Amino acid sequence: MQTDSSFTFVLFGGTGDLSMRKILPALFEAHRAGGMLADSGKIVAVARHASDRADYIQWVNEHVKSHVSKNGVDETAWASFLARIEFINIDLSKAEDFVQLREVIEGLPGIRVFYLATGPSLFVPICRALASVGLNENARIVLEKPLGYDLKSSNAINDAVGEIFTEEQIYRIDHYLGKEPVQNLLALRFGNALFEPLWRREWVESIQITIAEELGVEARGDFYDNTGALRDMVQNHLLQLLSIVAMEPPHSMDSDSVRDEKLRVLRALKPIDPRDIGKVAVRGQYHSGVIRGNAVPAYATEPGVKPDSSTETFVALKVEIENWRWAGVPFFLRTGKRLADRVAEIVVNFRAVPHSALGASALRAGANRLVIRLQPNETIRLYCLAKQPGEGMNLASVHLDLAFDQFFREGQMEAYQRLLLDVINGRLALFVRRDEQEAAWRWVEPILNEWKASIKPPKPYASGTWGPAASSAMLAQHGTCWLEEEN
Ligand code: BG6
Repeated sequence: MQTDSSFTFVLFGGTGDLSMRKILPALFEAHRAGGMLADSGKIVAVARHASDRADYIQWVNEHVKSHVSKNGVDETAWASFLARIEFINIDLSKAEDFVQLREVIEGLPGIRVFYLATGPSLFVPICRALASVGLNENARIVLEKPLGYDLKSSNAINDAVGEIFTEEQIYRIDHYLGKEPVQNLLALRFGNALFEPLWRREWVESIQITIAEELGVEARGDFYDNTGALRDMVQNHLLQLLSIVAMEPPHSMDSDSVRDEKLRVLRALKPIDPRDIGKVAVRGQYHSGVIRGNAVPAYATEPGVKPDSSTETFVALKVEIENWRWAGVPFFLRTGKRLADRVAEIVVNFRAVPHSALGASALRAGANRLVIRLQPNETIRLYCLAKQPGEGMNLASVHLDLAFDQFFREGQMEAYQRLLLDVINGRLALFVRRDEQEAAWRWVEPILNEWKASIKPPKPYASGTWGPAASSAMLAQHGTCWLEEEN
């Protein structure tokens, strides 16, 4: 993709974890690929932890290089990437310091992108300071999650930012929307006539969406302990995946058509009655355990975490969608840290045949299923029954696989790279609109409130397992189980 859209990319939080692990590596990959970033495009890092440009470049060399491509760094490309970087050390809490920022970027060409890779408490002060020096014109603003802590605080941020930037200038990032397989889900559903007639209550028995991590809270104990899995993963990533799985076909792929359809799903989520939370929601917290042979500590002993913390590191939910397509079909969502495996996948369980002329084995589990593996090893796998070779009619579960890395050997793009290019090129489809975000907060809020008020702690689970037993019990009540429990 050749581009001539020039840009000035201003990175607030330039020495933060996200800049180091994701944003700068993604910009480097786009730079190295050639033709994706205009030659005149500049990156202006804003940070307090470096004194001047030389100091910042040294930090980038020391900290960012190791997060760039597993295949090693092309030194020529790296040097020309560093040449794009400018640096400014300003105090983000002082509006007058933004005059200096304006001086640095005034003469630079193209659209201005302000990426706020900072804590949400700085979003509004930064936007106001930008406006006070006239930098909100010809600009796009990127807001990282978490955007707020609940509906009220997220509305407060959106209201304040909305006074300075129009909705078309605001890019709320949810990096799951930038993942290649999530894009592929749209291609699978809306590019093939094969699946669409089956993608509904008449043929689908249940759907599971799992985002499981082996990692714990790492160095983010402080942040995470005030956040928890419901805010960190469910309100955004899981509900976004759910809305893509369940949405109606949009009339085009333009940004508002897709986002309108996702919004309809979010608004159709069956509200959770606080009295039912015990039946439809499970929260857990990891204790010590063993993952891939290594002993790992309990959540409550992680740095930054309160020893008596009741923050959840695991959530499982049963969700229903109140519309004609999905009425009565349970969607089971699950996410957790320190689980047995790192995997993100969507499992569509189709109904069994209504009558088996082929004997009881035709009703066995493990067939009539589509598994969309988002990570690792992106694959779409369709499970069917086939006759086992030999005498008699014995059936076995087999699968048809589409393994993307075998089919498309090149051109895979990391989520952040795709999303940053979309911001620079003004494509909003993969960013969360304010009304979607509000609908998601509104839906999770009864659970947040109930858990906050509850005196019952989260259910413990040993690290390296699949979470508390109550998560499996919730599915058992619906006559089903999580995918790994069948294998
Ligand atoms: C982030 C969460 O949004 O997503 C993290 O804040 C989580 O807690 C991460 O680890 C997972 O993303 P990925 O792309 O590694 O699955």
